[in-house]
Amino acid sequence: MTDRSRIQSDLTDAQLETYAVRGGQHRTAEAEHSEPIFTTSSYVFNSAAQAAARFGGDEPGNIYSRFTNPTVATFEQRLAAMEGAEMAVATSSGMAAILSTVAGLLQSGDHVVCSRAVFGTTNVLFDKYFKKFGIQTTFVELTSIDAWKDAVRPETKLFFLETPSNPLGEVADIEQLAELAHQNDALLAVDNCFCTPALQQPLKLGADIVIHSATKYLDGQGRCVGGVVAGRKQEMDEVYGFLRSAGTTMSPFNAWVFLKGLETLTIRMKAHCESALELAQWLETQPKISKVHDGGLKSHPGHELARKQQKGFGGVVSFEVEGGQDAAWTLIDNTRMLSITANLGDAKTTITHPATTTHGRLSDQDKAKAGITSGLIRVSVGLENIDDIKADIERGIQAI
Ligand SMILES: Cc1ncc(COP(=O)(O)O)c(C=O)c1O
Repeated sequence: MTDRSRIQSDLTDAQLETYAVRGGQHRTAEAEHSEPIFTTSSYVFNSAAQAAARFGGDEPGNIYSRFTNPTVATFEQRLAAMEGAEMAVATSSGMAAILSTVAGLLQSGDHVVCSRAVFGTTNVLFDKYFKKFGIQTTFVELTSIDAWKDAVRPETKLFFLETPSNPLGEVADIEQLAELAHQNDALLAVDNCFCTPALQQPLKLGADIVIHSATKYLDGQGRCVGGVVAGRKQEMDEVYGFLRSAGTTMSPFNAWVFLKGLETLTIRMKAHCESALELAQWLETQPKISKVHDGGLKSHPGHELARKQQKGFGGVVSFEVEGGQDAAWTLIDNTRMLSITANLGDAKTTITHPATTTHGRLSDQDKAKAGITSGLIRVSVGLENIDDIKADIERGIQAI
């Protein structure tokens, strides 16, 4: 007979690093050490009465993997513990996380105030698609509290932002914006993709909802697409209700990959931050580079605020080269190791030209407002030796 007393970990009063490794795990009777992947679409019941009780919500338990799966639930519980949330809902992508949040919590006639400096597709989702369903959005300057104040209407229900922003690393004051949102009976949702809970916990600063593209640092090795929303049970029940009906579901395999990613998240983020800062400082000394955007640099306008609300400055560095798009493309094309890809948060360093990729769908006017110049390059600093990363970028600079 197996002694079950030591099979489940006791995580009472555990720290974030410990939740990242063990949070949400419920070992089965097989006493497996690593989390299993439950590749099953449905579950069987003991009796017709039990099936009825499960479907009716009178008895907890698995029903169907569109909305109940143990591997996905483990990922949700682990992420919720790391963000300090009551509940998390895993989704098929980061965009599905934003869609499920808005569709679950808002309705036609509601208004959103959204930072202009959000991921390009997020901008399109709010500006084009939510508008079709009667949800209007006003885009504002991320760092101007007055702009947020001025944009509020009686029907405003949600503030939405990314901090640090992509790709310029602008930093919003989460506490201040949460206060403003709450004064106006609105919720504050923060896309925490760039920091992850290892560096920033927006709920602890007053935000109501945290959103992730798990595709980025939570995975950390560029393998799977996924997302997650976390917050109070009251709001998450609505997000989950939408997911159950709409099927914006994370697959169990992807949930398992993200679980493995979370186990190394805190040490990976430290390494990403260290190398990114070293790269940013080095870029500042390079010829043909006119500006470097990194919250870790004293020259960055968000530096002090980032020090206050983040445990590190993140792994993304953006910089502007003299000579516009031609020079930027020449630099990118003359690197030999860095991956030319728009993804970020990977162990492999990636390099991209935001104006023609991630932000390519924005009008020239919107690009100018968001600070996406034609000479801007974004590097997501990976886990290779930093000297090799610098040498590769130097090859690109010399080719200009
Ligand atoms: C900050 C941010 N939020 C959301 C997304 C969307 O996530 P996904 O690609 O997983 O749908 C991305 C990038 O893709 C992103 O960079």
